[in-house]
Amino acid sequence: MSVKTSGRENWGSKVGFILAAAGSAIGLGNIWKFPYIAGENGGAAFIFIYLICIAVIGLPVLIAEVLLGRTTQRNPVGAFKALSNSPYWTAIGAMGVIAGFVILSFYGVVAGWSFGYIFEAIKGSFYEFEQPNSAADFFGSLTSNVAWIVGFLALFMCLTMFIVYSGVQKGIERGSKILMPLLLIILIILMIKGITLDGSEKGIAFILQPDWSLVSGESVLLALGHAFFTLSLGMGAMMTYGSYMSKKDSIPGASLQIVFLDTFIALIAGVAIFTAVFATGLDPAAGPGLIFQTLPVVFTKMPGGYIFSIMFFLLLTIAALTSSISLLEVVVAYFVDEKKWARKKAVIVFGTVTFLVGVPSALSFNLIADVKLFGLNFFDLADWLASNILLPVGGLFISVFVAWVWGFDKVLVELKRGAESLFDNYPWIITFWKIFIKYFSPVLIFLVFLHSIGVLDLIIDLFK
Ligand code: TRP
Repeated sequence: MSVKTSGRENWGSKVGFILAAAGSAIGLGNIWKFPYIAGENGGAAFIFIYLICIAVIGLPVLIAEVLLGRTTQRNPVGAFKALSNSPYWTAIGAMGVIAGFVILSFYGVVAGWSFGYIFEAIKGSFYEFEQPNSAADFFGSLTSNVAWIVGFLALFMCLTMFIVYSGVQKGIERGSKILMPLLLIILIILMIKGITLDGSEKGIAFILQPDWSLVSGESVLLALGHAFFTLSLGMGAMMTYGSYMSKKDSIPGASLQIVFLDTFIALIAGVAIFTAVFATGLDPAAGPGLIFQTLPVVFTKMPGGYIFSIMFFLLLTIAALTSSISLLEVVVAYFVDEKKWARKKAVIVFGTVTFLVGVPSALSFNLIADVKLFGLNFFDLADWLASNILLPVGGLFISVFVAWVWGFDKVLVELKRGAESLFDNYPWIITFWKIFIKYFSPVLIFLVFLHSIGVLDLIIDLFK
């Protein structure tokens, strides 16, 4: 049974925490984004770089975030407030809460498409097209339909709110314990289906044989940015989930399992998708349209495609749902901890607010497609702002805080709680983590940030 500290909720078990956190990490990033960026950047070569980024930046920063949360038992704002007196650090926490809104607003739109596609799959709509072009037209006609796109955003947000409303143990943990195994089962079935298709070897080769000619400096930065996004780092989601964790459990151990699950799922999603795409003779580097425009065509061409198309979009929706609940939970935890709101009220108010913030993103595909700020529509702007500014800056300051500001002796005391035997047996783990979090993470994240705002390119040009 869980032990309650000062009336605040807790995870019921260590597995509950790992599944919930893996649920946050595993999302559209793994199933929608990872395969297409890998496809555009040389397949195996990109995957190799990505794995290094996960190990060198992803895992150390994940440990740092969970540690901040567990130590303080607070949301991102409360966590910084508890450990430093400076309003600047509290502002980093606040930036995380804001990032929660920004991400959920565009994330919910894509999740809504996925939700809507489950119904299209059931209706058998995909059977109408033979070519990605007609699938693209179909996608275009759905997304230009205001009622469809806003309606499914609303439905998806209702699902998210329903789970968060029910609480940490009864909602998030219970939901994750049901949804995550389901996700894994569906994905494994899809992978087996992909591998057994005629011509799937080309898809496997694409994932295993590196094509270094497609890898550029840009790909490395992309891999780094994605490592961050896929682990839900940089805005306090993992901090918030860590804040419900027991001090008896090992943070490095749990983090390693989360990273392993996230990477494993991205890779098998890659195998399932590329084997099917290659077997059908379509283009693997189809960009963001890979899932919504290329795959429906793949399904029409494979035996049993009807049932697999339903399973696929169900999978994608589940993955998105367990991530969106973690985004909403950050905002809710802030209002519950700091403003003493009741959880239910916070969920209803801020779930609705996020839906409203998401509406302009949804309308970027139709009514307000021409409204542009800095050359980007709302949807792209929200994505750009979150992925290129808020998350890297958040992640940078989180690493700097843990490595340089908090006091490393205190950090180690907290980190060792629940992980005593690990550190007694493998003391070098601390040395490695220390080097990564003190030097590698801040420097590399800073480079990604400079690149995303265009400064890095200017500097490189100067030296040319
Ligand atoms: N990690 C999720 C994915 O891969 C997205 C996500 C969920 C996220 N929560 C986050 C990204 C918090 C950044 C921050 O789809």
